[in-house]
Amino acid sequence: MTAPKKLFIKTYGCQMNVYDSERMAEAMGGQGYVETQSPDDADMILLNTCHIREKAAEKVYSELGRLKPLKAKNPNLKIGVAGCVAQAEGEEIMRRQPAVDLVVGPQSYHRLPQMEERVRAGETALDTDFPEEDKFERLKSRPKAKRAPAAFLTVQEGCDKFCAFCVVPYTRGAEVSRPAAQVLQETRDLVERGVREVTLLGQNVNAYHGHDGGLAGLIRDLAQVDGLERIRYTTSHPNDMDDALIAAHGEVPELMPYLHLPVQSGSDHILKRMNRSHTAESYLKLIERIRAARPDIVMSGDFIVGFPEETDADFEATMELVRQVKYGYAYSFKYSARPGTPAAERATVDAEVADARLQRLQALITQHQREIQDSMVGRDVSVLLERVGRETGQMVGKSEYLHSVHVENCAGQIGDIVNVRIVEAKTNSLTARHLD
Ligand code: 5AD
Ligand code: SF4
Repeated sequence: MTAPKKLFIKTYGCQMNVYDSERMAEAMGGQGYVETQSPDDADMILLNTCHIREKAAEKVYSELGRLKPLKAKNPNLKIGVAGCVAQAEGEEIMRRQPAVDLVVGPQSYHRLPQMEERVRAGETALDTDFPEEDKFERLKSRPKAKRAPAAFLTVQEGCDKFCAFCVVPYTRGAEVSRPAAQVLQETRDLVERGVREVTLLGQNVNAYHGHDGGLAGLIRDLAQVDGLERIRYTTSHPNDMDDALIAAHGEVPELMPYLHLPVQSGSDHILKRMNRSHTAESYLKLIERIRAARPDIVMSGDFIVGFPEETDADFEATMELVRQVKYGYAYSFKYSARPGTPAAERATVDAEVADARLQRLQALITQHQREIQDSMVGRDVSVLLERVGRETGQMVGKSEYLHSVHVENCAGQIGDIVNVRIVEAKTNSLTARHLD
């Protein structure tokens, strides 16, 4: 028997890339590859890339520059670029970095095995199609090995919203939903392998239409799967938060009380220029309705500061919205002009002004995050145990609110859901005592 070849995958960007990397590794398993944790002994290196901001895209080229010398040491090493930079830049990647043998977009990675054969034969391979066939049907069924208790599961890809700053509609294409039956089957397979929690992924996951009842219908069906205890979903657009989904937050116990609902800005003028099709007020009203259905829900969001034309007053409106919502988590970014998007043509805000705004916003978000963490002390929550902490030796897992929780004196095993009382809040995690 020949020794297995080694595959090193480095994943950038969002959770969907994490899911795609898993599927690519599984597809390459069929070609005789096993995963390795180091690029140094790899026969193939795949960078699964992100194009959302300039910094993310540029990281790929510096990493390729660092990896190139490995080819001198191992003449059999092949280097591939997958993900959204692959989709956006295609052949240009090989021109800029000739050490790259393979470029594959997010919609065509089910063809990776054939592409690998071509590069082994000394050719280069490029595929950035949006193929007619269903990638998920073509990928082999997932191997039966035991899994970590929390898994990502892509149910929807692409976006039709065309926010003026965003590359996603171009890199991931139009909105496509996987049929509910396919998602249910994959979920049952995951549960059989030890998964207790799934996070349903989509660039616009609440626009899911692979079930007659939309995302809410899918969630209600998944909640019936024996052994699946927790369901989450991300990322959502405010305009697709329909009544059925809001009701599900109040009625489906498996649906966790945490919601990532990006608004991007608190200024109506900027929201309009961003092509968001909602106002700050409609967003705040929506959150009121969600909180009426599930009062303890923890909200999370995304913000862009320094979008073209953003004035001090626009930025203050964002700060005010953040004060009103009080997010448990929020991610804020300085606007980055992306080639091919409508906003890239517009005059930008002074970089120093944007930096100062970003700092103020992040300080406010951190303060809220800390206040919410502190308010958890003394409360009882449930924790899905995911791993043993390296420094403490304590069991670590996630609460229903997605807080990282270290459990003292824990009698449970990885994969168990245990009841705990929070005893201490630290900056990035909570400490708890086991109650069972
Ligand atoms: N510049 C800065 N941030 C961006 N995002 C998307 N596109 C850009 C851009 N051009 C942010 C948005 C989105 C998150 C995933 O990334 O806030 O919700
Ligand atoms: Fe990008 Fe999200 Fe807007 Fe779609 S809804 S264009 S993915 S920011």
